[in-house]
Amino acid sequence: MQDWAKRGVMYQIYPRSYQDSNGDGIGDLKGITSRLDYLADLGVDIIWFSPIFSSPNYDNGYDISDYRNIMQEMGTMADFDELLSEAHKRNIKVLLDVVLNHTSSEHEWFKQSKSSTDNPYRDYYFWKPEKDGAPPNNWISIFEGSVWEKDDITDEYYLHYFVKQQPDLNWENPKVREELVAALRFWLDKGVDGFRLDVIPLISKNIDFPDSDSQNIGHLITTHYANGPRLHEYLHFLHDRVWKDYNCFTVGEGVGVPIDEIKNYVSADRKELDTIYHFAHFEVDTGTGGKFDCIPVDYEKFISIFYAWDQALGDDGWGIVYLGNHDLGRMTSRFGSKKYVAESAKLLNSIILTMRGTPIIYMGDEIGMTNNQYSDITEFNDVQTLNSYKVHIYQGGTVDDFIEAANIQSRDHARTPMPWTDETHGGFTAGTPWLALNPQKSTINVRQQLQDDHSVYHFVKALIRLRKENEALAIGQIRPILDTPPRVMQFIRVHGEERLWVIHNLSDESVEVQSELLNENAELLLSNQEIMNDADSLYCKPWQTAIFKI
Ligand code: NOJ
Ligand code: CA
Repeated sequence: MQDWAKRGVMYQIYPRSYQDSNGDGIGDLKGITSRLDYLADLGVDIIWFSPIFSSPNYDNGYDISDYRNIMQEMGTMADFDELLSEAHKRNIKVLLDVVLNHTSSEHEWFKQSKSSTDNPYRDYYFWKPEKDGAPPNNWISIFEGSVWEKDDITDEYYLHYFVKQQPDLNWENPKVREELVAALRFWLDKGVDGFRLDVIPLISKNIDFPDSDSQNIGHLITTHYANGPRLHEYLHFLHDRVWKDYNCFTVGEGVGVPIDEIKNYVSADRKELDTIYHFAHFEVDTGTGGKFDCIPVDYEKFISIFYAWDQALGDDGWGIVYLGNHDLGRMTSRFGSKKYVAESAKLLNSIILTMRGTPIIYMGDEIGMTNNQYSDITEFNDVQTLNSYKVHIYQGGTVDDFIEAANIQSRDHARTPMPWTDETHGGFTAGTPWLALNPQKSTINVRQQLQDDHSVYHFVKALIRLRKENEALAIGQIRPILDTPPRVMQFIRVHGEERLWVIHNLSDESVEVQSELLNENAELLLSNQEIMNDADSLYCKPWQTAIFKI
């Protein structure tokens, strides 16, 4: 794995929502280019862009209709070339988000594939006849309904793990693999620095397509969809045919990857991926009913999950540390405090930037954005939220219960446009935004945060600087301190002689933390609040985060 990828601070942009440059209400590439100085100033080293390829946008770009072209709303290839070269001028690397598990139903391959049973593209996807008057098996889609959709032209069903406009590619077919290799090389040859690989553990299917004993989506993903029989062969193939020829960084979306499998994806000797990111810490506030089954956060579990995965990765494995992305509610609303909003936002950013692994800051989290509050289902835009709503009502649930859960978990919260100012549309667009801005823009926006030395933004910037100045924070090992008060996460980062002691109080309470480390000439490097201590104890304030050199 490249050293820059380990040390780099990553930032994820959801391009539709970052900056609109032409007044059509949709963020675009030129808009992002105009904000590169903001990112460079924050200290960002690597940007991951959610998909910018041609797409009819049934799932906002995660349905690609042409792997080698730019989505019309995003701009042109010339705009992309400019963005790439302007990013590189500022020493910022660019990762594209590529979807290799499925395409759009409007991709030329699928149009051909569905046209007849003997079309040369037929085997680019999975087609099956009906079984006893029903779909070929009982699997259900991650986004709603059966994974099988019947197409009238040939009267057969095709497979789609997500919405029906996202048919799954058949990786068993060597021609599919070759097409994808060529597409990946096309972008790397242009100079992009790597990829975030969408739902990569799902690409190898169990082609017997057995019925499942349970239709619980979590069960289906871990038992039937993820980690298929030829998965590691395919990942190795990508390494051999693509990654190894470039100085690139590959980050897999580790959906359905169990903790004891992670090494098989990322150990250097496997020659598969550099790293993947898991979802285990997002299970601490959801029940068995899945994403919209919300329960209170179990903070002890939350803390222990970070340590467990770090240990599973071991010295030769490298992970990702993140608390939010475009598929999740805002981290501050989910794991932070309603009472100490800004301090908890700082602390959560501090977790991201003090743990071992490449940190990813999701756009807007550097200014402490929180969830929007929606009151009506018509205000939501996200296909997953809307489909889950239909299922919830069909199963007898109430509208109010669903809205309450969606106000924590809907993907829309992370997708509201970036508030640059407190103007009507937050300086995001001169037109009408594709998704309404979060009204909090009048108090939480970039302009205001830049002016306030005590803002979340300035704290994040200081954290990033600290990470760059201290090898132990960037690449050091992590030694958990387990003898610690409830909801207080403490650990030591070690690299050679350098040792840093990190404390995060994830609670609304003040806590006394007794520690012998205070006697070891502990020197405070950074905290979000004033430090109070005596020779034996640190008196942590609610949501205090602190980093000491010892
Ligand atoms: C994971 C992506 O992050 C999500 O946004 C998308 O809907 C699914 N994969 C399907 O591509
Ligand atoms: Ca635009």
